[in-house]
Parts: sequence; structure tokens; C-alpha cells
Amino acid sequence: MVQTICVCGAGTMGSGIAQAAAQSGVYTVLFDLNNEVLQKAEASIEQNLQSLVTKQKISEAQKREISGHLSFTTDLNNCIADVIIEAIIEKPEAKIALFNQLAEINHSETIFASNTSSLSISQLQQKIKHPERVAGMHFFNPATIMKLVEVVKGEQTNETVIDALTGLAKQLNKVAVVCKDAPGFIVNRVARPYYIEALKLVEDGVADFATVDALMEASGFKMGPFKLMDLIGNDINYAVSCSVYEQLGKPERLKPSSIQKEKVEKGELGRKTKKGYYDY
Ligand SMILES: NC(=O)c1ccc[n+]([C@@H]2O[C@H](COP(=O)([O-])OP(=O)(O)OC[C@H]3O[C@@H](n4cnc5c(N)ncnc54)[C@H](O)[C@@H]3O)[C@@H](O)[C@H]2O)c1
Repeated sequence: MVQTICVCGAGTMGSGIAQAAAQSGVYTVLFDLNNEVLQKAEASIEQNLQSLVTKQKISEAQKREISGHLSFTTDLNNCIADVIIEAIIEKPEAKIALFNQLAEINHSETIFASNTSSLSISQLQQKIKHPERVAGMHFFNPATIMKLVEVVKGEQTNETVIDALTGLAKQLNKVAVVCKDAPGFIVNRVARPYYIEALKLVEDGVADFATVDALMEASGFKMGPFKLMDLIGNDINYAVSCSVYEQLGKPERLKPSSIQKEKVEKGELGRKTKKGYYDY
């Protein structure tokens, strides 16, 4: 059983993963370089837990216990745990640097899991000091609710690490699927055309984004592609689109859209900036 985890990056995913872990009784350190983001994550977790109390899903005592399992830090030296889960920006060099820094201060069995949506675990491993202890652990958004976790085995990942992460997923009440280290793993590969084709419809003037969303929702999808991109974050979705496109040899059908690029340049990242395709 995993006793302690450290989640790096307190944004959309990191704060959800930290809450899910604390709710499962795992001692969790949530780390971000940006104190403002960290404070926002703390407030949002507190609000989520309060709402569970109001809905009588947990008691006040349980809420206190969950909060007692959480700590928040901007100091890298506090990031000591059995498992480190990074959920920072989707840039390989940032993830590699973070894991290498943390390897210096953690014990010799600490596991380094990346929540990357699209970067190759095997490629990250090539520049990380203890590649056999590195794997992918890809949660879905919102991490407190979504059950699926893709556990990704890189070329050098030790089998015991896969077992430990599959076990951790179970501990967090999630369902783990072990995946090969392929571009976009499974879900992001399947989902890519959903976004790209919807963006093409808008680019070609066939329909506006709200109409596309409304029709997809009417045909049974839980969220239209534009609402979903706003939930994910348009910066993250664009980075994943580019990464999957490049890794698959630039197929025309998966070419990222200029609309995505424009949204990122304008800082209209979706829910997290209160403006994306929609206003929040
Ligand atoms: N958004 C999604 O729906 C989703 C789903 C699954 C996986 N992911 C993956 O999770 C990761 C994070 O995505 P997100 O949407 O939570 O991003 P986000 O932009 O909401 O949050 C990223 C956070 O990382 C922090 N950060 C950046 N560099 C850091 C560093 N070196 N050390 C500590 N903190 C640092 C930033 O301050 C920011 O708060 C990405 O790899 C993404 O591909 C995202």
C-alpha cells in the first residue's frame, strides 16, 4: 500500500488528483511553484469537500480527516514521498528537470509517475536518472470523478513499478488500464479526431461551435467538443494535439487547428482563465 504521494503542479489535474488521493486516505503533498495557484487549489478542495458535507456524502469529521491528509507547499524540499505524480506543463524538459531534482532528495525506491497526456514515457526515461522507476499514470479530468487511469509502461519501466501504480489506482478507487507507450496512449488517440474534426467544421464555416456542441450532446455525447476543450484547457489540448500529430508522422487528418493556436495566444484557455470558447 502506498502511504504518501506528492503531486507536482496544483492546476486542473494536480488539485483533483490530490483531492482524490486524500479522500482515499493517502497522505498527499501538493506542490506548485506558483503560490497563487496553490492557494486557489487549497480553496477549491476545501469548497469541494464542504459541498460533499452539504450533500451528506461525507461527515464533518471525515472532511477534517481528509484535510488532515493534505499539505500544500511551494518548497521542492518538501516533495518527499513513496510516489511522485507530476501534473505540470506538457513540456518534456520541465518534467525531466523536475524528476531529476526530486530524485536527488527522495529515497531509492520512490516511483516517478507522469500524468502526461501525450509525451512518450520512453523518451522521458532517456534523460531521467532512474528510468526503471518512471512510468505514466494518466488520470482523466475531473480527476475526483473519472474512474479511468492509464498506467503507461515505458521501455525501461520495471514491472514492479507498473504493479505499484496499478495498486495505487485501486487504492484511489480508480480502474487502471495498462497501456503501451504509444502516441496519445489509448484515450487521447481515440479522442483526437473528435476535437480536430469539430474545429474543421468551424474553420470551414459549416457550423458555429455552440451548434456543434449542441448537436453532439443531442446525439448522446456527455459534452460537446468545445465545452470539453474548455474543461481540459485549450493550452493543454493544443499541446496534446501537436504532440500526437508529430509522433504519428503528421497525418493531415490530425493537423492541429489554427483556432486552437489562436486561443492559446489570446490566453483564452477555458474554464481556468474564465474564458475559452465560452465565458465562465
Ligand atoms: N487538463 C486535462 O484535462 C488533463 C487531463 C489529463 C492529463 N493532463 C496532463 O496533466 C498535466 C497538467 O495539466 P493541467 O491541465 O493540470 O495543467 P494546468 O495548466 O492547469 O496546471 C499546471 C500547473 O503546473 C505548475 N507548474 C509548472 N511548472 C512547474 C514545475 N516545474 N514545478 C511545479 N509546478 C509547476 C503551474 O504553475 C500550473 O499550476 C499535463 O501534462 C497534461 O497533459 C491534463
